Amino acid sequence: MQLYLDTANINEIREAASWGVLSGVTTNPTLIAKEKGVDFRQVITEIAELVNGPISAETVSLDADGMVKEGVEYAAWHPNVIVKVPSTTEGLKAVYELAKKDIRCNVTLCFNAAQALMAARAGAFIISPFIGRVDDTGVDGMSLIREISAVYRQDPEISTKILAASIRHPRHIIDSAIAGADIATCPFKVLQQSMRHPLTDRGIEQFLADWRGRA
Ligand code: E4P
Repeated sequence: MQLYLDTANINEIREAASWGVLSGVTTNPTLIAKEKGVDFRQVITEIAELVNGPISAETVSLDADGMVKEGVEYAAWHPNVIVKVPSTTEGLKAVYELAKKDIRCNVTLCFNAAQALMAARAGAFIISPFIGRVDDTGVDGMSLIREISAVYRQDPEISTKILAASIRHPRHIIDSAIAGADIATCPFKVLQQSMRHPLTDRGIEQFLADWRGRA
């Protein structure tokens, strides 16, 4: 399973890219807004120069024509830009039209397997089920990944990638992989947490103490 970073923060992206683990980046309007005053096009192209993989840039129109117009514009910024559209019927129309122009789409805000099947049928490159937000409602978010994975596996015509989104902790990453996700997009903090273990720290301390005390 590939790892993407879910952020528009250039310092976080530069740091995680230096670890050699990043295969792509996802952004959304909230993440872009967090980076006060940045120019959308500039930040997306800067990310595309740092990470050699799909970079999701989200549309803000509610109608298909508007999404297609934005998508065509974003795709011209860099060949790795993936156009993010919501899981709505207008989003499906936009995916269908953009796919005809060879522009790849990430269908976001997916909360059930039927949406995921429809997105795949329309030609989505990526489907983004939001597991953390499902967990927040008291329902098991991971079952969404399992269901989509079963539905996609059953249909050899579907090549849409399952991207586990709204990841909240390292366990979500591992469970997503086991449930059949192709990609997990993670906040920087969760990638950092994934490499932390008290026994690793204690082991390092012990090794260094023994090294220093050798005869
Ligand atoms: C995915 O592409 C979204 O940007 C993201 O994972 C949303 O996660 P959140 O629920 O933490 O906002």
